[in-house]
Amino acid sequence: MVPPGSKLPPLVQTARFMADPVGAFERAHRRYGPIFTIRYTGFPPEVYVTTAELAEQVYKTDQGGGSAGAARRDFLEPMVGAHSVLTLDGEPWWQHRKLLNPPLRAKQVAGYADDIAAIAAEKIATWPLGRPFALRERMQEITLEIIVRLIFGIRDAGRLARLRALLPRLIEVGGGMSVAMLPAGLRGPASRVPFLPYARFLRLRAAVDAILFDEIARRRANPGGTDVLGRLLETELSDQEIRDELITLLIAGHETTATGLAWAFERVLRMPEVLRRLPDDEPYLDAVVKEVLRMRPVVYEAPRLLDAPLRLGDHVIPAGWYAGPYIPLVHRDPAAFAEPARFRPERFLGGPQSRAWMPFGGGRRFCVGAQLALLEMRVIIREVLHRLELTAPDPAPEARRLTNVTLAPAKLTRVIARARTPARTP
Ligand code: HEM
Repeated sequence: MVPPGSKLPPLVQTARFMADPVGAFERAHRRYGPIFTIRYTGFPPEVYVTTAELAEQVYKTDQGGGSAGAARRDFLEPMVGAHSVLTLDGEPWWQHRKLLNPPLRAKQVAGYADDIAAIAAEKIATWPLGRPFALRERMQEITLEIIVRLIFGIRDAGRLARLRALLPRLIEVGGGMSVAMLPAGLRGPASRVPFLPYARFLRLRAAVDAILFDEIARRRANPGGTDVLGRLLETELSDQEIRDELITLLIAGHETTATGLAWAFERVLRMPEVLRRLPDDEPYLDAVVKEVLRMRPVVYEAPRLLDAPLRLGDHVIPAGWYAGPYIPLVHRDPAAFAEPARFRPERFLGGPQSRAWMPFGGGRRFCVGAQLALLEMRVIIREVLHRLELTAPDPAPEARRLTNVTLAPAKLTRVIARARTPARTP
């Protein structure tokens, strides 16, 4: 029996999901229980699970039967290319993943802490004081700069300036519906109509690629460096493969981390008792970051495209369907998290971490940048709170809204900043 779900036409189910990407799942969960089907227009049906046990079983398909790469390929390939750890599966995926893991391990990225703090301090100094602004946009500037300097290893001021101007436009145009959802068969014709978004996207991509290939060539001539590009150049990857993985790390790592940071401030600015303990108590800061990602997971799903049927209890999900956890509901499972609706960072202090905490997905496809993301969040929160006093002009919590593949605060975390006098120092 396939998992239950609404009998409404896929178009209506898609519209409901777009209008309310959290409520639509909560309703399905209440009505059908911990495993249910949603049908979107133009895609195979997707089965969502909402408990850690069921999620584990989906993640187990990473060992055979489930493809995380195929589930993302159609949307992402124009941007990340054909050699990306996001969209590959099987042996080619593992060949790349093996090479990306070492430079992104906790021990390696710990070496970036001072650089991250310096980049944050540089950008924070430019924030407006005394009037409301959207914090997420400012966070995106910081996380973009971190990727360009510490992952791509770019130092030259001219190139940095070019990339700062080009990358946000590339991401905006490339992540838009009219590019990401364009069927592969229409890409050729669309590329020949200069004013269409797809053609614009190709021009931006070519401009970025020219800088990246040039940088790769220079660095091959002068090996070394502690940035991720330097490490990838020591492997057997070709220039094209390295270009694809650099763009992959940008796409997977920049908006997600900025949104996580936006949520962290959206939450803690409304909780004076939490804010008071921040930022210098390191274990508590770490626990706050984890609790934010539990209550407001940035990525809501981690789907696998099944190439063999998957049995989950009494249900069988057919081959050709998607299966994945709906992360916000797994994180609200009272069997895994006591009082799940309460913001309680203490639950992450000491003791082993619950396997139900999955803001970074799971199985073999677990987020390769998780340690860097957690480090960035801790360091940037610390830098902001040392320098500025932030308040939320509107005490009402911000709703969740779908932006590309993330659930972001509806107002992108509106804040007012004031200088901290005297500046707090660690
Ligand atoms: C708060 C920030 C972040 C969140 C919430 C996040 C979340 C996720 C999730 C849910 C997945 C899918 C895992 C699965 O399918 O089981 C993923 C995969 C991935 N993430 Fe992240 N991520 C974040 C930051 C980063 C950063 C900073 C980078 C790199 C610099 C990165 C690179 C990747 C890559 C390359 C994959 C694909 C891994 C694979 O398929 O083998 N992410 N991430």
